Amino acid sequence: MALFAMGDFHLSFQTDKSMDIFGNVWKHHEKKIEKNMKKLVAPEDTIVITGDHSWGRNLEECRLDLEFIEKLPGRKILLRGNHDMFWDAKKTKALNERFNPKLFFLQDNFYSYEDYALVGTKGFTFEGPFYYDPWGNLMGWDEAKEQHAQKLVEREMQRLRKSFEAASSEGYRKFIMFLHYPPTNILEKESPFTQIAKEYGVSRVVYSHCHGESRYGDSIRGEHEGIRYELVSGDYLDFCPVKLLS
Ligand SMILES: [Fe+2]
Ligand SMILES: [Fe+2]
Repeated sequence: MALFAMGDFHLSFQTDKSMDIFGNVWKHHEKKIEKNMKKLVAPEDTIVITGDHSWGRNLEECRLDLEFIEKLPGRKILLRGNHDMFWDAKKTKALNERFNPKLFFLQDNFYSYEDYALVGTKGFTFEGPFYYDPWGNLMGWDEAKEQHAQKLVEREMQRLRKSFEAASSEGYRKFIMFLHYPPTNILEKESPFTQIAKEYGVSRVVYSHCHGESRYGDSIRGEHEGIRYELVSGDYLDFCPVKLLS
């Protein structure tokens, strides 16, 4: 039995938003997802898919994309990404009822893997605009947008705390924390997300959302204050899922 993660499939079986324009790594990326998942993930394994599943704007426009995910091997736990318009954060329960047992939606709840609680939420972080001088030195950023971002971070923190509390109240003491957005932005060394990870003694923080060489390093990767931070964006992994636990 193993636990895997990967995110940002950006599927478009029913929309015209092919990802091919974003470079070679995205060419036929759904074929790569299928091939790598079938090779690595066994039916008894679990994979957390960390958001941005589909370009569809509602469940009907996502139907083929979600069916594609359903058919992949393993227990599929989905996190909400910023592009997942089909997923109203207040209606996660209805999604879980509708797709059970084919897909599981992680929001305000938790799932378990052996003695670990898998907790998570979409998260949020300020992504600019940042202002640079002609030499590429950071000179400033949009402060109004940064203030607004703090409100969105607070809302996501409330959701994440709910997920931790649900797991704690059922006796879980080991946690893996999943976010769609990176836990910190280029201005930060710490954030409410890194703080809650410390507070609960999380062993790993897994996130995606960052696309392209220039963005992969936006947040923490590797060991930081005893916690392992892992970027699992599909393009970063060339669509090969990462094994977190076996
Ligand atoms: Fe994405
Ligand atoms: Fe995203």
